[in-house]
Amino acid sequence: MSQPQAIIFDLDGVLTDTSEYHYQAWKHLADDEGISLTHEENDEHLRGVGRRESLMYIIRGHQYSEDQIQEMMERKNRYYHALIERMTPKEIVPGGVALLEEIKSAGIKVAIASASKNCRLVLDRLQLTSYFDGIADGNCVVNGKPAPDIFVYAAGLVNVFTPNCIGVEDADAGIQAIKAAGMKAVAIGPASRFHGPDKVLPNMENKHLKDLLVE
Ligand code: G6P
Ligand code: MG
Repeated sequence: MSQPQAIIFDLDGVLTDTSEYHYQAWKHLADDEGISLTHEENDEHLRGVGRRESLMYIIRGHQYSEDQIQEMMERKNRYYHALIERMTPKEIVPGGVALLEEIKSAGIKVAIASASKNCRLVLDRLQLTSYFDGIADGNCVVNGKPAPDIFVYAAGLVNVFTPNCIGVEDADAGIQAIKAAGMKAVAIGPASRFHGPDKVLPNMENKHLKDLLVE
């Protein structure tokens, strides 16, 4: 691929560090329930994973009713809201706005593919919503990452064939989703976290379009 026609970004842990807020909210809930949860477990088992699947990991081996499960998901979301309510554009990754502007001025579409139902709230707090030609979030598709659905949906929003897209992700489940969608995958984080990305960048700080391009 010389130049992609669209670049599709995951949100949490890519354009902003909300993955840390997700962890803090889950940690609060786990503490309430007397269940241990570490940063390492979060990285390995919860990063990029949907709300229910995340809770199922945390409460594995414990007995809870469906009503209790629903209540815990709502409680975690309240804790998460309390954290993101205070967010400002200062929490966009350094150089993030310049990168989005550079991509747009190169004539490349920009979209979001986030599993989060809070995606639009976070984009609004960061004042980023208007930068995107398409936003696919946790309300759009039933099958979460590693299923390709959310990336395929995002490509459809910007009218680009999936092989002409690059996807950018900080979670291995997301890299698998991007590859299954037939896109090139750029991974953000330590190489040991990922299986089969086309490119790995240790972080998203002060990146330029050329850094995201894949052969
Ligand atoms: C993203 C985050 C996950 C989160 C999921 C659902 O994929 O990386 O940490 O669990 O979205 O988010 P939500 O805001 O809908 O609970
Ligand atoms: Mg992520």
